Amino acid sequence: MLSGAQPTADSYHLGNYFGAFKQWVALQDEFEAFYFIPDLHAITVEYDPAQLRERTYIAAAQFLAAGVDPDRSALFVQSQVPEHAQLAWVLGGVTGFGEASRMTQFKDKSARSGSDSSSVGLFTYPILMAADILLYQADRVPVGEDQRQHVELTRNLAQRFNHRFGETFTVPEPYIVKATAKIYDLQDPTAKMSGSNQSHAGVVDLTDSPKQVAKKIKTAMTDSGSVISFDRDEKPGVSNLLSIYSALTDEPIEAIVAQFEGKQYGHLKVALADLVADFVGAFGDRTRELLDDRGELDRILAQGAAQAREVAAATLDLVYERSGFVRGL
Ligand code: TYM
Repeated sequence: MLSGAQPTADSYHLGNYFGAFKQWVALQDEFEAFYFIPDLHAITVEYDPAQLRERTYIAAAQFLAAGVDPDRSALFVQSQVPEHAQLAWVLGGVTGFGEASRMTQFKDKSARSGSDSSSVGLFTYPILMAADILLYQADRVPVGEDQRQHVELTRNLAQRFNHRFGETFTVPEPYIVKATAKIYDLQDPTAKMSGSNQSHAGVVDLTDSPKQVAKKIKTAMTDSGSVISFDRDEKPGVSNLLSIYSALTDEPIEAIVAQFEGKQYGHLKVALADLVADFVGAFGDRTRELLDDRGELDRILAQGAAQAREVAAATLDLVYERSGFVRGL
């Protein structure tokens, strides 16, 4: 199993936690797991090198704070495993231009900045993501809903390569937990929670102070009416709050709805604000502790990269062989 989350902000947010990290942690006992920080993906948009380095450490600390256990899973930085870039080049040869052009994330991002200021790297980004996954012969890729199309592309590339050059790659399945596949912005509960949303008022970062969290939850956009019930179309705001409540407590939505029967939206918000503030408060403390020992983070990442390279090098070797490259002595 393999997954990653881009180091493109000073903190991950609740959407990343519920859509991805929570699944990663739950699955690491059952699977041989690889979790990585895709820094090569992060340079496909404008960025600052010093900030990227800092954000990569923050990412490592937050993976660990979420519960990724480096004794059970390989935790590494993508650029420390050169096979990712090497395999991406080979896969570029079996990717259609039209196929890559249909990736909605590319279309959204390039529409935002205009095609002249979008990089070629942003366009080929999904091919690198396919390489990330296929190098480890991953069976499952736990991600949020927004990554489904990229995993579909990965499946197509794997099948095509296998068909043309002989059985080489495992064809991966996306692993998307429906209840938390898409956590929405608190201010605009029809848009996904995302670090690139214009306003940060609806995005709960995992390093927010308990006070900031409480404010964001209490000022969340709710819907007309006053009955607390789960209905994505009619009550997107309340439904999002209920999803977060359920994800945090592991209680089914119906039980939470029953618990708040006859109560107002405000009651739900106050209870949820307390829960999220406690969770994020503890998460932030743990992250800061981990960030205090960079030497230890470097050690964990080096160990993860060594584990990753063992598997990645074997796959790349097979790919080079199948591709017809002279392997030398
Ligand atoms: P990224 O960095 O945008 O997001 C990391 C993970 O968080 C999930 N996610 C969400 N889940 C639920 N609700 C939300 N509001 C929400 N926002 C984000 C994402 O679906 C993702 O699982 N291209 C990837 C990174 C990547 C990758 C990979 C992932 C690179 N190579 C290989 C898996 C396998 C990305 O940009 O995710």
